[in-house]
Amino acid sequence: MTFITKQKPYKIVFVCLGNICRSPTAEGVFQHLVNERGLEPYFYVDSAGTSAYHIGEAANSKSRQTANKHGIELRSRARRFESDDLHEFDLIIAMDRENLENIKALDSKSSFEDKIILLREYDSVSGDGEVPDPYYGGIDGFQNVFDIVKRSCDSLLDELEENIEN
Ligand code: 4NP
Repeated sequence: MTFITKQKPYKIVFVCLGNICRSPTAEGVFQHLVNERGLEPYFYVDSAGTSAYHIGEAANSKSRQTANKHGIELRSRARRFESDDLHEFDLIIAMDRENLENIKALDSKSSFEDKIILLREYDSVSGDGEVPDPYYGGIDGFQNVFDIVKRSCDSLLDELEENIEN
């Protein structure tokens, strides 16, 4: 791990399937935590999807509603994760194992595998290691996603904050 400085902000991208539910929630929550801690100059936060199903769309209305309840606005527009992102980002965070495998499939020489991780590696509640896809379910599933994402992003930022050099 190299030090994080204002001159070289640390770039994080959260990745799910559609880039309309889970990864926009993670992007919004992580950015919110960064803002709360006054760390804006040190991080660049983005999200993307491994599919092309929803390119250009705003976050799902139930994801936005759930985030709003917690004072967080989701501003993303869906885009597809591209192989250039493997070079561009310092940390690539998949929501589930299928996303993880799809990202790794773009990394044909396994050059970037150390920076491709699952979000729930940072969740203190172990679960099954995945952020469940809420797309076809009710509002409870979206709240569950929010809770998992919030816990995980908090502890991820705790760890990254230790690498900030002023
Ligand atoms: P996400 O949720 O990957 O968390 O954005 C989904 C969004 C759309 C679909 C599946 C999951 N879909 O099949 O269209």
